[in-house]
Amino acid sequence: MIKTNVAGSALSVKERVELLNNLAAGVATTMVPGTARTTLQYTISLTRIWEQLLEEIAPRPDELTLDIGCGFGLVNLEIGIRFDAPSVGCDIVPEFIDGARVIEGHLRSLGAISSKATTMFGRGDICNLPYGDSSFEVVIVREVLQYLPDPSVAIREIFRVLKPGGRVIIEDLEDALYIVEPPNPASFSFLHDAISRLQKMKGGNRNVGRQIAPLLYKGGFEVTKVSTLSEGDFVDESSASFERAFVIEQLMSAKSELIESGVVTGEQFEENINDLKSQPYNPQFRMNGRIAVQARKPS
Ligand SMILES: C[S@@+](CC[C@H](N)C(=O)[O-])C[C@H]1O[C@@H](n2cnc3c(N)ncnc32)[C@H](O)[C@@H]1O
Repeated sequence: MIKTNVAGSALSVKERVELLNNLAAGVATTMVPGTARTTLQYTISLTRIWEQLLEEIAPRPDELTLDIGCGFGLVNLEIGIRFDAPSVGCDIVPEFIDGARVIEGHLRSLGAISSKATTMFGRGDICNLPYGDSSFEVVIVREVLQYLPDPSVAIREIFRVLKPGGRVIIEDLEDALYIVEPPNPASFSFLHDAISRLQKMKGGNRNVGRQIAPLLYKGGFEVTKVSTLSEGDFVDESSASFERAFVIEQLMSAKSELIESGVVTGEQFEENINDLKSQPYNPQFRMNGRIAVQARKPS
């Protein structure tokens, strides 16, 4: 088990994730239910992926990192805890920023982040960042490009706010890297496909992973590394009830938007969600691959 050296205590990764999970769950209950809460659960469920990403980019204590689309700021807080490094987190949704500040306050009061590792959270759109040119040594963007109608605008902004010689890591979905055995029930596939179509209608793209390296190259960056961050899992019966509740909650939070946008009818939604609820949840092998690309702004 990896141990971290945090001020006054050494928490294992598992203990830290549990701590974050408890704090975050407390915050989430004070927030508007829906997207905010499911984003939080989603982020926590992908802890192993973002830990791999942080190991790849490894910010130094003398480098200032910007995490764009930071959600509840868990990656920023991890940078403070594990790398003792300062960071800024921004998100377009103000509720995430409020939640990030609360979680940070709790962690600091527990002495989990040293005072050197300052963390600042603020509102910001990746397509129009509220920061000056050449402000950061490192930029991290996790699972944000998939929502953007024109990711090249975001790449231009990242280039602008990075210092010459600065590093960026962008990680995102590539749905073609999703493997599951045995296959999901048809009702799950129907609803998952509906979510993809909704995202596409709004200008997003769940296959954006394959576009990251070309986008960075066209944006003037030197591409230094392309990796696949994969999370292979065996989901046994003991995880099944949690998983099913989680997936159903995610789908329910998208219900009104799916129906109002015309992607599914109310009847189709009810029929498929009820079927999903009634399905036995079989043990499964599952792999969800993400593409992570590192690049450097020329000096
Ligand atoms: C799937 S979450 C990922 C959160 C976080 N990056 C992580 O790795 O856990 C996507 C986040 O991107 C944010 N977002 C979406 N569009 C954005 C934009 N144009 N500018 C900044 N943030 C944005 C959302 O509000 C949300 O917090």
